[in-house]
Amino acid sequence: MAGTNLVAGILGKISKDPYKIIGPFINGCSPETIRRFQLMMLADGVFEPRRKRRGDDSVLGIKLWNKKFPNPIGVAAGYDVNVQAIDALMELGYGFGEVGTMTYEKDTIPRKIIKLKADQAFIDQSIGYNNLGSGELVQRLVERRGHKGIVGVSIGENTNYAEKEEDVRNRVDPIEQYKNLVRVVAPYADYVTVNISSPNMMGTAEYETEMGFDKLVRNLKDALQKSAPINTPQLLFKIRTDISDLTKEVIAKIAIKEQVDGLIIGGTSKRRPEELKSSVAYKETGGLSGKPIFDSSTFLLKEMYYYTQGQIPLIGVGGVFTGKDAYIKIRSGASLVQLHTALMYKGPKVVEEIKTDLAKRLKADGFKSAAQAVGVDLR
Ligand SMILES: Cc1cc2nc3c(=O)[nH]c(=O)nc-3n(C[C@H](O)[C@H](O)[C@H](O)COP(=O)(O)O)c2cc1C
Repeated sequence: MAGTNLVAGILGKISKDPYKIIGPFINGCSPETIRRFQLMMLADGVFEPRRKRRGDDSVLGIKLWNKKFPNPIGVAAGYDVNVQAIDALMELGYGFGEVGTMTYEKDTIPRKIIKLKADQAFIDQSIGYNNLGSGELVQRLVERRGHKGIVGVSIGENTNYAEKEEDVRNRVDPIEQYKNLVRVVAPYADYVTVNISSPNMMGTAEYETEMGFDKLVRNLKDALQKSAPINTPQLLFKIRTDISDLTKEVIAKIAIKEQVDGLIIGGTSKRRPEELKSSVAYKETGGLSGKPIFDSSTFLLKEMYYYTQGQIPLIGVGGVFTGKDAYIKIRSGASLVQLHTALMYKGPKVVEEIKTDLAKRLKADGFKSAAQAVGVDLR
């Protein structure tokens, strides 16, 4: 860390975006090294603005639930898993952030990620969510209380099983795990996301049936209400990108019936589009992220906006690298947008160019606020 501090000091002095200098070297490393290094740099203040950052252009502001988002660009779950740098990310100008995915018990299964540089993508082969567990992470959330920024917490189930059917049957009831997690994070989260989006987890399929999703939603709404009756955080569900048409309708129907606060659309994708440059992608299984999933995740976003009749706030995630991408997600029904792969390839300051370009596009099309543009391509 001391080394990073020194590097931090020097880089911060010579460049507005230190990642433009150091990024090309780090980008040769493994995905986990890239992420760890970025988080370390963030926590060490390498990206701290040299001058006080100007507030966001008012066209980017969006009111959702009972919250005022200064802009709609957020950090997706899976990046700052262990609540290491979320406040530095908020300082940098993200409109909101999501930490986790957190599990109740510590999860030590190492992450397995393949880098597809030519496609600006990753394949996530991790089973489960490697993280420090709710004991340590809730403590970190307690310690950051009072910091500014809208910060959600993503929760997931512990994987004490591999990919075998019999192990899935023997696992600890996931609803109980989610309820325990909701109880401990609710007082410290602006919103809670139940992550059922990982294509590598066999168990999540049971929540894609009408009964399964309904049971999950009702149980967690109740647990959340009881754990934080005042200032109750919003309850969101992050869904898989590869769901069937029937599942789309089922999720939308229950989301409307139970008045779910929001859906995040979506996780990584098991599918492989035809035009991938990295041939290894066709040999390896796992969840694809980044540029190649922009079209499919945006299409799903449109479908979910249509099925939910614009009544449920949607967060669009998948392949957003530019202001244009964010604008398309918003026009396709997203009230908010999240980044993951772009952050890893372009560094945390990518948010600035995305916001500048997004504001220009909104104004050029005559919108007074981002909210006005939500779903216009479907209206
Ligand atoms: C290596 C990796 C790890 C991820 N970990 C999580 C996670 O812990 N929780 C989660 O909800 N999503 C996780 N995701 C999914 C991302 O948050 C995001 O939904 C997906 O990558 C699509 O967005 P992107 O194209 O901007 O990366 C992960 C994705 C990748 C590539």
